[in-house]
Amino acid sequence: MTEARGRCTDRAHPHLWAVSDLHVGHPANQSVVDGLAAQHPDDWLLVAGDVADSSSRTQEVLADLRSRFRRVIWTPGNHELWTHPRDEDQSRGVARYAGLVDMCRKADVLTPEDEYATWRGPQREFLVVPVHVLYDYSFRDPGVALDDALEAAWEAGHVFGDEVLLHPDPYPTRQEWCRARVELTEERLAVAGQDRPMIVVNHYPLVEEPTRRMFSSHLAMWCGTRLTAQWHKRFPIHTVVHGHLHMPRSSVDDGVAIEEVSLGYPREWKYRTTPFAPRSIACGVSTR
Ligand SMILES: [Fe+2]
Ligand SMILES: [Fe+2]
Repeated sequence: MTEARGRCTDRAHPHLWAVSDLHVGHPANQSVVDGLAAQHPDDWLLVAGDVADSSSRTQEVLADLRSRFRRVIWTPGNHELWTHPRDEDQSRGVARYAGLVDMCRKADVLTPEDEYATWRGPQREFLVVPVHVLYDYSFRDPGVALDDALEAAWEAGHVFGDEVLLHPDPYPTRQEWCRARVELTEERLAVAGQDRPMIVVNHYPLVEEPTRRMFSSHLAMWCGTRLTAQWHKRFPIHTVVHGHLHMPRSSVDDGVAIEEVSLGYPREWKYRTTPFAPRSIACGVSTR
């Protein structure tokens, strides 16, 4: 995987921008979100999950962003799928996701359940494909049983809050929910990208490599699934946009642009040398 080169940020023409992991429960993050604005009336914004821990706040933020951008496309992060004891919305799993999708439709925000939209530039068109495929703990040493891997993670204290707050109902496990989502999504991808390349938007990376830069190897189990490892070879994917790792980066893997577009927590972004800004994924003049 190689680092990507710079990209157009000329505000004179429309852009397809991307952000993720806004985590607006942190006041400093809300200030960042308050500053997000389209620079052109036809700008679009991709929001790759982890907007907020409560359904109502997620809806407010997405509706607010939709008032500022021509089109907003969202895919859920693990935090939107948490059933937090303090949230008035106590729905779980698939029902919770369905409720979020309904809220997005009321706010005119596209989700993985909608028809894929086409971004049109003067030189190329892209199908914008938000997906919701979760994780299945397969980003681990395949020689270690899951129970043993989880026990080691608990002992190290490196466990995602999902273990307590993200329920897979009515699926018995998060792995089975993930598998069902992958199968459903692959059926759509097989027919969707036949006439134009795709920009796939997922909360998690589609391959394991980016998780190897996390401070603890235990955490990768909650960061994706090996079921998506060949997607960029099976389907005409031009760019993958993701978040969740809170490690923003632009890179290229097998000719596919990989854009990790997280804001993350204040304790993380306040020490970055480059200030946070929405990432330009495509623009109205040219496309990488
Ligand atoms: Fe996050
Ligand atoms: Fe996340």
